[in-house]
Amino acid sequence: MIYSRIVGTGSYLPARVMTNHEFAARLDTSDAWIRERTGIVQRHIAEKSQSSSDLALQAASRALDAADVAAAAIDLIIVATSTPDYVFPSTACLLQAKLGVKGSAAFDVQAVCSGFVYGLATADALIKSGTHQRALVVGAEVFSRILDWNDRGTCVLFGDGAGAVVLAADSRPGVHASILRADGSQAGILSVPGNVCGGAILGTPFLQMDGQAVFKFAVRVLEESARETVAAAKMSLEEVDWLIPHQANVRILEATARKLGLARDKLVVTVDHHGNTSAASVPLALDEFIRAGKIRRGQRILLQGVGGGFTWGSSLVTL
Ligand code: ACO
Repeated sequence: MIYSRIVGTGSYLPARVMTNHEFAARLDTSDAWIRERTGIVQRHIAEKSQSSSDLALQAASRALDAADVAAAAIDLIIVATSTPDYVFPSTACLLQAKLGVKGSAAFDVQAVCSGFVYGLATADALIKSGTHQRALVVGAEVFSRILDWNDRGTCVLFGDGAGAVVLAADSRPGVHASILRADGSQAGILSVPGNVCGGAILGTPFLQMDGQAVFKFAVRVLEESARETVAAAKMSLEEVDWLIPHQANVRILEATARKLGLARDKLVVTVDHHGNTSAASVPLALDEFIRAGKIRRGQRILLQGVGGGFTWGSSLVTL
């Protein structure tokens, strides 16, 4: 039996840090409101010259170094993003070129904040099928580009960044089970309902959200998919060392851990200093905790995405 294993991780945050106080200086909001409702203290914002593929390149290069795998040995590149460089070609193809290699499969996954988990599950399935041996799975976002910076209800929530993992074929299971789900009837609660048509923007290019509906939906499906995934792996929640839910809001994360009966010290929280980086949030958090020596080889981690679509999913992995 062939399995896939995470053999290296990397991440990248743009240098520019934006604190809550910067919002409070020009909008009707406050550091206290943002902290209390979301747990967010600061986020990173990309330079105008930086696109998702640039952020992805940094994170991917660090993951390849950590895995001691050459870019030329990668035969599958999946980039999860809702803020691609272009309509096409895919950000994955642009990343491949920036890595200076060619020949691997390369495509983007569009599942918004669930994108990384969707990409990981896809790469795992392809490796298990025997068609691919070494995959680069990246979440990269510049959400700062799709925010209405005058809408206090949304612009304070998000940040830019990228995270990446190298997944390789192995005789021991790394990824035990993944569950992917969607409910398109909920498309309206979180969307950027615009497109490019005849040289103009049709609709709106800014993120729109029904915050309370998103909150309730996220807490429900994060719990459901955690239980479903652990059951699919024939394991129990007691065997999970770390829970890394999509980093949307500390209250969503804590409610999920509470409902699952997981101790607070098993919950990975980075949203306080990253903001919500959509598809990048889970691999960013994973890499940060590995590099800090908190998450270690051999430990079991439940990775969870939830976001626009609505989409959600979980993967249970042993590092
Ligand atoms: N500063 C001050 N006041 C604000 C701000 C702000 N930044 N944003 C909204 N408000 C106001 C509203 O205008 C409203 O004012 P009103 O009563 O005069 O109309 C009041 O605060 C309450 O608004 P609510 O939307 O009811 O506030 P709520 O407690 O629900 O908190 C929040 C809003 C933080 C967005 C919350 O609903 C939430 O976290 N939802 C989840 C959304 C999320 O995580 N989205 C990320 C993308 S989705 C994902 O990643 C899964």
